[in-house]
Amino acid sequence: MTIRDALRSAAERLELHYVSNARLTAELLLAHCLSVEREYLYAHDERVLTAEESQALEDLLYDRINGIPLQYIVGRQEFYGRYFRVTRDVLIPRPETEHLVEAVLELKPSAPRILDVGTGSGCIAVTLALEIPDGRVFASDISESALMVARANASALHAPVSFVCMDIFDAAAGEFEFIVSNPPYVRRGDMSRLQREVREYEPHVALFSPEDELEIYRRLIAGAAGLLNAGGHLMMEVGIGMDEPVLDLFDMRWEKLPTKTDLQGIPRTVVAQLNRG
Ligand SMILES: C[S@@+](CC[C@H](N)C(=O)[O-])C[C@H]1O[C@@H](n2cnc3c(N)ncnc32)[C@H](O)[C@@H]1O
Repeated sequence: MTIRDALRSAAERLELHYVSNARLTAELLLAHCLSVEREYLYAHDERVLTAEESQALEDLLYDRINGIPLQYIVGRQEFYGRYFRVTRDVLIPRPETEHLVEAVLELKPSAPRILDVGTGSGCIAVTLALEIPDGRVFASDISESALMVARANASALHAPVSFVCMDIFDAAAGEFEFIVSNPPYVRRGDMSRLQREVREYEPHVALFSPEDELEIYRRLIAGAAGLLNAGGHLMMEVGIGMDEPVLDLFDMRWEKLPTKTDLQGIPRTVVAQLNRG
C-alpha cells in the first residue's frame, strides 16, 4: 500500500470511530511510524509501505481508536513553540497554560528567581528558563515519575532548571520573585464530565484536586507568602469559574492584579503581588 492509500484508509477508519481531526491524526501517526515529518508524506506519497510499517501504523490506529491521546502515542506536545516529551506520567501541556508564561514575561523581570510548583512535563519551568536567560528557575512536583520527564525535557532543550520532589512547599527554602503553578483543580465529582481520554489516560494526581478544590490554592497562597520577596508575584492557573473563589483566599498582605483570560475569554491566570514592606 502506498503512503497516499494508507493515509486515506487510516483517516476513514479514525472518522468512523469519531476520532477528531481524523486526517491530521492519520498523518501524525504515519509520520511517527516512519520517523519523518508530516511534509515527507506528501513529497513521497507514492512510496510503498513495508509490511512492518503497515503493521506499526495498524497498532497505532488501534491505540488511538481505543482512546489513547495522540500526544502519548507520538510522545510529544508543543508548548510555547517548543516540543516537550510527554508520557502517561505527566499532564499533556495545554495551550491555556501558555498564558501563565506570558503573565511572567509581560512584567519583563530582571534576573528573577522563579519557582514552578507541580511542574509535570516541565513545560512552564523550561519555557521560563529559556525565555529569561538571566533568571534562575526551580521546579517541583510531588510525582518522582513526572520529575523524570521534566528533567529529560530540560536536558533536551538545554534549559537550566533545578528540580526537587516535594509536596507543595514542604521542603522549600529561599526567596523568589515569582511563584507559578498550574495545580490539579478538577473536582472529583466532575470526573464523569471529562473526556474519556483525559479521564482514563492522564495522571489523576495531575488532574484532580483534593476533596476541597480550594485547599491546594490555600496552601499555595499561605506558603508563597513566606517564600516570595516583598513585591513578588504569585500566579496560578484556575479552572473555569474558580477565579473569584481563589481571589477571595488572598488576605490583606496581597494586592490582587487583574486575572488573565484565555483565548475564549475565560479567566485563567490569577495574579497577586505580595505587598512591599
Ligand atoms: C495540572 S498538572 C500541571 C503540570 C504542568 N505544570 C503543566 O502545566 O502542564 C499538576 C501537577 O502538579 C503535581 N502535583 C499534584 N499535587 C501536588 C502537590 N501536593 N505538590 C506538588 N505537586 C503536586 C502533579 O503531579 C502534576 O504534575
